[in-house]
Amino acid sequence: MKALESHKHLVTAALMIATVVLAILYQVNDNTEQKETAPTYSIDRFIAVDTCGGCHSEIFAQWERSTHHLSHTDTVYLGVSDFLREGLKDPDEIKEAEACVKCHTPIGVITGYPTKSSDDRSKIPELAQMGIQCDYCHSATAAHKMYNNGLIIEPGHGEDNPGVKRGPFKDSESDYHETAYSKFHTNAEICGTCHNVKHVVFDTDLETTYTEWKNGPYYSDDLKERVTCQGCHMVQRPGVPATGSTKRPLNPGQAVDDGPQREHIFTHYFVGANAYLPKLNGDEEKSQMAIARLENTATLGIDKTQLDHQKLIIEVKNIGAGHYLPTGMTEMRQMWLEVVVKDKKGKTIFSSGVRDNNEYLTADTIIFNTVFGDGKGNPVENIAKAREILKDRRVPPKQSLFETIELPPKKLKGGKVRVTLFYRSASQKMLDKATGKDKHRLPIIKMAEVQTRL
Ligand code: HEC
Ligand code: HEC
Ligand code: HEC
Ligand code: HEC
Ligand code: HEC
Repeated sequence: MKALESHKHLVTAALMIATVVLAILYQVNDNTEQKETAPTYSIDRFIAVDTCGGCHSEIFAQWERSTHHLSHTDTVYLGVSDFLREGLKDPDEIKEAEACVKCHTPIGVITGYPTKSSDDRSKIPELAQMGIQCDYCHSATAAHKMYNNGLIIEPGHGEDNPGVKRGPFKDSESDYHETAYSKFHTNAEICGTCHNVKHVVFDTDLETTYTEWKNGPYYSDDLKERVTCQGCHMVQRPGVPATGSTKRPLNPGQAVDDGPQREHIFTHYFVGANAYLPKLNGDEEKSQMAIARLENTATLGIDKTQLDHQKLIIEVKNIGAGHYLPTGMTEMRQMWLEVVVKDKKGKTIFSSGVRDNNEYLTADTIIFNTVFGDGKGNPVENIAKAREILKDRRVPPKQSLFETIELPPKKLKGGKVRVTLFYRSASQKMLDKATGKDKHRLPIIKMAEVQTRL
């Protein structure tokens, strides 16, 4: 018995030592991860999008005027980026406000210009202004961290020596560039490292799309069950919204104009929910595709059993998005409920979420969003000041949220309830403040509606 006891101590001691060693190793590893080791490349190592488009014309046409293409020239982004820097004095807040370029013009940052958001934009090389582009994504090999763009890039040496372009094929050949199969490109991590955004000093989670997906039902250890970002967003095409609630059929075709016929070509529209930006840039099709996504994302329900008790219980279900609804810049995006209750005579006895003449939402609106705070419980609009999350009320994938409204003590019988779920890419009020009143009037998309007689 004694021998066994001491044996047990030995095992415990060994385990403790192992844990300490592992912890130290992890610490070291973590420290190297924290370091921003991105080397600076000369800009001429990258190849212009037009060159890629010369052979991959269909893919180019899909990517053109996507928000990835526009990420650095997007007037909404530029306006907001400038607005957020105004009047900041705290060096930690300034650091965040200067860090936008890392994702919005990634080639610019790794080639040395711009290094911060306030740098003179007219001096940014044209190639870097093309946003998140062909040669950037197809030179990626891995990610060293899953937030704030941790992509590791191995570009070629420019037009005359293009190097390796990595992608999903195991058997592709091109006379122009080398090709290589890259498992990394077939997984969500290539997207997730930019679609997870943290405050560079305070560590506050500003965007968590990848994490929401990773912890949700579309992720599975079984590759056959897993639906990656690409599985929805790079399957979508006009007429095929490819959401969680609609079919996601293969897209047979060719990756190059005279290339081999393939059973699936991943599309490059990269449409999310932005119905404004593509249209503003002359691309009606992508705006329509965003609307098609939003119309296949959510359902609404009313619990009729509680209406007798003057309680209106509304169910909002996320049936289509692979992450929370909404996701991304959720302090700015607006998804809200418009509720109108009328009595027998058609007179409105209750309403909420109805817009005023400026298209602004009233304070009583039920809105699914994120609100950041200054660390002392006061809400802040500027993400540079985001020291805490005060509110995060959004709908997880394949789940429902319930909202209860206490209706006024009035006779409901014979009346009508209408509940509508709306989406727009930003708070109109916030955008007016950032870019000037009436500069951008955002489209409002009806995602779902339910009506019932009382
Ligand atoms: C945001 C990153 C990103 C950008 C930008 C991008 N691609 Fe892709 N591309 C991918 C990923 C990821 C895949 C593979 C998807 C998978 O296997 O799940 C892919 C696949 C491909 C393929 C293989 C055929 C297919 O579509 O399945 C080609 C060819 C290609 N891309 C060319 C281009 C060209 C040309 C451009 C610019 C017009 C471009 N890509 C822009 C990420 C990107
Ligand atoms: C780690 C990468 C990353 C960084 C850093 C980053 N963004 Fe973004 N940004 C994104 C992603 C991803 C989206 C798309 C998410 C969405 O659609 O909600 C986005 C979208 C936006 C949009 C919406 C554009 C539109 O037309 O609707 C604005 C505005 C924006 N970012 C501003 C900023 C500002 C300002 C900063 C710096 C303070 C910044 N971003 C830093 C990744 C980043
Ligand atoms: C001269 C024509 C030509 C040009 C220019 C060109 N490609 Fe290709 N590329 C091809 C051909 C041909 C294939 C093979 C297609 C196939 O097998 O279906 C290919 C395949 C690819 C693949 C798939 C690789 C794989 O193994 O999965 C990617 C990614 C790709 N190209 C990216 C690019 C990018 C990025 C550029 C611009 C820097 C570019 N290509 C420029 C002809 C070209
Ligand atoms: C099951 C399908 C599905 C998967 C998987 C999926 N998405 Fe989405 N995504 C959608 C739908 C539907 C929308 C439109 C509704 C919304 O805004 O959430 C959307 C919207 C978006 C938006 C725009 C959000 C906004 O409101 O501006 C971004 C950005 C995005 N997805 C990125 C990603 C990334 C990155 C991944 C992988 C980590 C991913 N998505 C996985 C279906 C999917
Ligand atoms: C280098 C960083 C980066 C990478 C890598 C990246 N994205 Fe994005 N993505 C962005 C930024 C930044 C935006 C917003 C641009 C804007 O609107 O100004 C965006 C926008 C989007 C949108 C449109 C959102 C909307 O509201 O309409 C979708 C969808 C999307 N990305 C999906 C993907 C997918 C899928 C992948 C992986 C194949 C991916 N992204 C890889 C940075 C990135």
